[in-house]
Formats: sequence, structure tokens, C-alpha cells
Amino acid sequence: MLRNRATFGTRFGFYMAAIGSAFGLGTLWRFPYVTGVNGGGAFVLLFVFFSAAIALPVLISELMLGKITRQNILGALSWKPWVTGRRWRWIGRLGVAASFVVLSYYTVVSGWVIHFVVQGIMGRFTDANTNPELVIDKLLTRGGLQILLASVHLIAATSIVARGVQNGIEKSAKIFMPILFVIMIFLLVHSLFLPGAYEALRFLFYPDFSKLTTTAVIQALGHALFTLSLGFGAMIAYGSYLKPEIHLPSEALVVASIDTLLSLCAGMLIFPIVFTAHVDSTTGPALLFKTLPVLFGQLPLGYWVAIAFFVCLYFAALSSSVALFEGLVAYLMDERKMKRASAAYSIATITFLLALVSAFSSSLFKNIKVGERGLLEVIDQGIINWTIPVVTLGIIIFMGVKVPDDMKKEEFVDAKSLITVKLYPTWLATVKYLVPFLLVGLLLLQLGIAIANDL
Ligand code: PHE
Repeated sequence: MLRNRATFGTRFGFYMAAIGSAFGLGTLWRFPYVTGVNGGGAFVLLFVFFSAAIALPVLISELMLGKITRQNILGALSWKPWVTGRRWRWIGRLGVAASFVVLSYYTVVSGWVIHFVVQGIMGRFTDANTNPELVIDKLLTRGGLQILLASVHLIAATSIVARGVQNGIEKSAKIFMPILFVIMIFLLVHSLFLPGAYEALRFLFYPDFSKLTTTAVIQALGHALFTLSLGFGAMIAYGSYLKPEIHLPSEALVVASIDTLLSLCAGMLIFPIVFTAHVDSTTGPALLFKTLPVLFGQLPLGYWVAIAFFVCLYFAALSSSVALFEGLVAYLMDERKMKRASAAYSIATITFLLALVSAFSSSLFKNIKVGERGLLEVIDQGIINWTIPVVTLGIIIFMGVKVPDDMKKEEFVDAKSLITVKLYPTWLATVKYLVPFLLVGLLLLQLGIAIANDL
């Protein structure tokens, strides 16, 4: 059953690729924006809780499914030794569809980042005569420019993916991830010295449950899954490139902890600026792009810091796009027997067409709104609050009922480490009972709210 499949070259390479997948626009762009919209503290606390109680066990499960079967999401869900028939494959199809949609608006937002690199080079954020907060507003009204930028991004992502796992993904992640971490810490220190820092920390870490709405609970869950790239099959594909000797629980723990920590850092970086420059915390998807440029204007060497930051942010966006892309490529290669390069080009074409919707959401389609929310935000939240929890539920039930326990145990337990022996029953119970129970409960709650709002 084990075909000759490419693998990650080194353990460090896998870490960088998995962290590169997890750490992207979700962490730096989406986390602050949804935290702002959902009122801060209580939302953040729930996000951390869901990351530990749901996302981490699911991450181990997705990687495990990939590692054992060496298949893409659909192949894993119809793996012969465990299942007969193709009943479970619809979960995989849903994951594939969600990947296309997310990749399309992710591509558009990555295009925004490219625009900010160019604006940084032109000195827009350090020039006293321009208002850096307006750069994003102007861009949003220009759908044509957004689609052009998105195309540049798609070409970059396609050329990496077409070259394959080791050549493309590992190499680019190894270089840019560490640089981005260093810049983030530098900015974080500066941000924490701003006058609004105290208010920001209070906003982020003082949970005021009276502000917590039921939709915020679901958003926290959806985001905890999204930020770890779960519910798409992307981590199943990455798991399938793991060498047999890699030990899953510890790898997953490292990836999840780093990503959660970085999300919190992103919050601590952005919100002091929000409260110092009096930016509206409920701004939505433009939040990151409205706040950071304000900080660059005040920093020593701000011109260079701005460029370096957006270049690195771009690479974070690129490595996540590549991960989304890779899940789809694995699917087309395994299931449709396509060659890697033609799979990559087909995906790029479909993504481009879908990206038109998001790129024009603030211009041509600006009148299509749900409440206050524009089309891009509606698509973003629709996929992340509905599709991802449903796909995750499917995967986790499959893991619980179809994958034999002794196989799970073999992957989880490392004879040399006593702690894995002790933790195994807890993880198994979490996967079999706690996670499905919480997911079903939260999905039903969300459905109830949706129905009540419609009545
Ligand atoms: N986790 C990535 C982020 O936080 C997004 C992503 C989702 C990447 C699914 C790959 C697959 O930006």
C-alpha cells in the first residue's frame, strides 16, 4: 500500500513547513480582526481553550491519518483496510471545495500584502503628508488592481507547488519564517511601549463575559481550527509526507503552541496601535492594514522596518497558500491521476476565477452585504464557521470509529517516553467523545441562532 511518496527532508524542514502552513494571514490578519469584532478578552480565552481542547487533538488526528495512509483527504477517508465503499468521501469533497474558496480570498488578501510592500518601498508609511490609514481604503475600491496583485501571488504559489514538496515548500519556509519571527518581536516591543498598550492588554486578556455573544463562541472555534489549517485536509496531505520515524504528538504540540503564541503576539502587536491611534476595533478585514502603517511612521528606521515586515508577512501568506494548494494538488494527483504540474495549473485557473468575487467585493459587488458585512467577510466567515467545523466533525468521527485503536496507539505512543503512554487514553477519549460532542453542540447552537434570526 505504501507507494513511493515524496517526504520532507529533515525534521526541521517539516516543522518549518507545518508552522509555515499554520502561521499565515490567519494568525496576523484574521485573528486580530475577529478578536476586535468579537469584543476581546472572553473571545481570546475561548480561542485558547478551543485550541487546546479541540484543535490540538484534531491536528494530531489529521497528521496521523495522512501518515498512516499516505493519502490525500479523500483517499484517507476511503482507505481500503478500514472502509468499504465511498460513503465517507463526501467529507473530503467538502474539504476540497472549502480549500478552493479559502484559497481564492486568501489570494486576494495576499495581493493586498504585495501592495503594501510596494507602498512601503514608495515611502507611503513614513511620509508625513500621507495618511497611512487611507492606503487600504483606496486599494479596496480598486477591484482591477486587486485582481492583478492576486494574479502575481497565484503565479508565485503555483511555481512553488509545481516544483514539489522538498524543493519548493521546505526551502522557502526555512528562510523566511525565522526572519519574520525576529521582526515580529522587534515590533511587539515597540508596540507595547505605546500609550494605548495598557488598554490593549486589558482588552485582550481581561475576559468580560457580558460582552460574549453566542456567535463569538462559534467564531472562536472556527478560528482555532482555521489557524492550524484544520478541516481542509491540508494537514492530512502534510502528514502523508512525514517519514515513519517522526513522532506525532510532540510535533503537533510544538506546531500548535507556537501558532497560538504567535496569534496572541499578533494581538499584542496590533491592539496597542488600535487604542493609541483610535482606530475602530470592529473595523473587520482591513484592521491589520489600518493599524501597522501608523506604527511604522513613528519608528526609527520605520521605512525599512515597514518593507521588511510586509515582505516577511508576504512569505507567511505564501507558505500558507502553498499548504492549501498542496492539499488540492495531492487530491488531484492521487484521485484524478494528474501530473503535479498540470494539477497546479488547473487549481490556479479555478482559484483565479473564484478570486474575482472577493477582489471586487468592495467595488463592483459593494452593495451585496449581509448586515454590515461585505462579501469577502461573508465568504470568510461562512466557510470558517460552518464548513470547517462540519468537515472536522466528519474527520474526527471517522478517526474514532474507523481507524483501529491499536494503529492509533502505535502512532501516538513512543515507547521511550512515558508521558505518551500516560496521555494516550486522554487523547483517545478526547477524539472519540469530547471533540465530537463539542462540535455537534456548537453546530446545533449556530443552526438555532441562524433559524431564530431568520424568523
Ligand atoms: N492556517 C493558515 C493561516 O492561519 C490558513 C490555512 C488554512 C492554510 C488551511 C492552509 C490550509 O493563515
